[in-house]
Amino acid sequence: MKRVLIATEKPFAPVALEKITDVINRAGYKLDLLEKYKTKAELLAAVSTANALIVRSDLIDRDVLDAGKNLEIVVRAGAGYDNVDTSYAKERSVVVMNTPGQNSNAVAELAIGLAIYGIRGFFGGNSGGELRGRTLGLHGYGYVARNVHRIARAFGMNVKVYTRYSKAQASSEGLEVTASLEELYASSDVVSIHVPARGEHLKSVSMAVLKHLKEGAIIVNTARKEVINEDDLCRFMEDRIDVKYLSDIAPDCAAKMISDFEERCYFTPKKIGAQTEEANTNAGVAAAEQIVGFFANGDQTFRVNK
Ligand code: 3PG
Repeated sequence: MKRVLIATEKPFAPVALEKITDVINRAGYKLDLLEKYKTKAELLAAVSTANALIVRSDLIDRDVLDAGKNLEIVVRAGAGYDNVDTSYAKERSVVVMNTPGQNSNAVAELAIGLAIYGIRGFFGGNSGGELRGRTLGLHGYGYVARNVHRIARAFGMNVKVYTRYSKAQASSEGLEVTASLEELYASSDVVSIHVPARGEHLKSVSMAVLKHLKEGAIIVNTARKEVINEDDLCRFMEDRIDVKYLSDIAPDCAAKMISDFEERCYFTPKKIGAQTEEANTNAGVAAAEQIVGFFANGDQTFRVNK
């Protein structure tokens, strides 16, 4: 009998867990659950008997992959798989998948929420601004950005995008695609970041880009802290006292930013973009179904380490 381990330091909502359990039980597999674990040792012990592993942002490094001696598949229930050592998994013949798009509406709603929180001066009581009529610049155009676009249009925003890989998609949806990232930052009142933490995107929000930002601009980051050049961001915020930075999960330089620019930055205490019952259910059930499809039919559609 196959054993599926759900290892989530940040647990799925109970309603999601119920549905995930149902998929696994119906397939005739045994489900093991490790939630809210505090040490890596707990994860290493739990993974030792698993054939399949479902995780969220949990760190799946060499140690975990080595401890999972029966592991055949790891599914990251979510979009970003920067927490999984995909190449070592490949070396060990462990398939790694994500569940693209499944939690994107939740993250998009948070991005808009942060934009409103920022433009309303963190609800401090002073006159703020409105999103209607302002320009939103989408840095990247994956599933989350597409949902942000849909919502922003309903708010009456002008939306632009800078994307290398989804130009045709963006143009077909009536979006203006800027010729450069600098142009996007220069012409947006709100910039919302939606690129993954890999390759050319790492530290891609650097001084070379930031220096083009419009007066009074707001940066919303619901992607990853790794796409920001934090030294540059801190230097930039020091010079440009008109700019605000709001992100889902604190940057490494959070302490400095809070002490120096308290009124211009906000960080969620924990990554909460995908923390909704709906997103947990969509991503968790998709992960379980992908595992069943893999074991039953060898389906590798969402494999990310081919
Ligand atoms: C993702 O990459 O899917 C999101 O950042 C959500 O991450 P989480 O599962 O840790 O909430």
